Amino acid sequence: MESDSQSSNPKTTQVETKPKLNSKHQSYKLQAQNVDVFYEDFQAINNISLGIVENSITAFIGPSGCGKSTFLRLFNRMNDYIDGFSMNGNILMDGKDIYDESVNVEELRKIVGMVFQKPNPFPKSIYENVAYGLRIQGIKDEEYIENRVIESLKQSTLYSEVEDNLDKMALSLSGGQQQRLCIARALAVKPTVLLMDEPTSALDPISSGKIEDLIHELKEDYTIVIVTHNMQQAGRVSDNTAFLYMGNLVEYGDTQKIFTNPEKDRTQNYITGRFG
Ligand SMILES: Nc1ncnc2c1ncn2[C@@H]1O[C@H](COP(=O)(O)OP(=O)(O)O)[C@@H](O)[C@H]1O
Ligand SMILES: [Mg+2]
Repeated sequence: MESDSQSSNPKTTQVETKPKLNSKHQSYKLQAQNVDVFYEDFQAINNISLGIVENSITAFIGPSGCGKSTFLRLFNRMNDYIDGFSMNGNILMDGKDIYDESVNVEELRKIVGMVFQKPNPFPKSIYENVAYGLRIQGIKDEEYIENRVIESLKQSTLYSEVEDNLDKMALSLSGGQQQRLCIARALAVKPTVLLMDEPTSALDPISSGKIEDLIHELKEDYTIVIVTHNMQQAGRVSDNTAFLYMGNLVEYGDTQKIFTNPEKDRTQNYITGRFG
């Protein structure tokens, strides 16, 4: 396959950047091409290229401060808000540069949803939390909104626990329920990509398990990228894994391979807990 990810930059030490494509999907949903990120003078990401397959789950792993969140936030332009942020290279979705000046960032964030480490429901009812994105879009059709709310809550596996209490304040839910509510809120506006930054690290093991099951189910309809500190979780939920270390992509590929027979010593050391 002709690679378009190995363009001009000569100083690259290129690593394996091609997860296997299944027959159904012959192209990448998301692609990073020779991406550098800076916060002022500090370089947080160093020349990363990788492609993410549609309807797959990709885990970003690596020690704290290695650039996982920074790299994840590139895919819905959340770094744009940060003072001193700048980047080189390209981020493509469906082959199109999402940093092109013609891109409407609000629209982009609708189709690239994000879930954060700490559940962050609004101080509103369960119903209004999920309806929020639709109302922001100016949708007035209450029947449509209600259908989307119910459908999204079902998809996030929360519905059966809250169906009689949709008017209840979201903040009265447990942490695990709040996180599933935040996932429902992201799903309501029909994204195609879901970015999750350590979505279970503030949760107890049972709630985490529910979110992991949910992530697995969502893969049918979404392309999911998840940052996780939890190696077992990466092994359980993801198809492909990218190991980042100090802003570099050390290794990327099939999760089972990364976890059982990695190419690089550094990866081996990390997954066996020898540092990190
Ligand atoms: N808003 C910011 N301003 C300046 N430096 C930042 C900012 N966010 C992250 N960094 C720095 O960039 C590096 C990568 O951070 P981050 O992407 O949060 O890593 P991770 O998610 O892997 O813990 C770290 O050295 C961090 O201190
Ligand atoms: Mg982080």
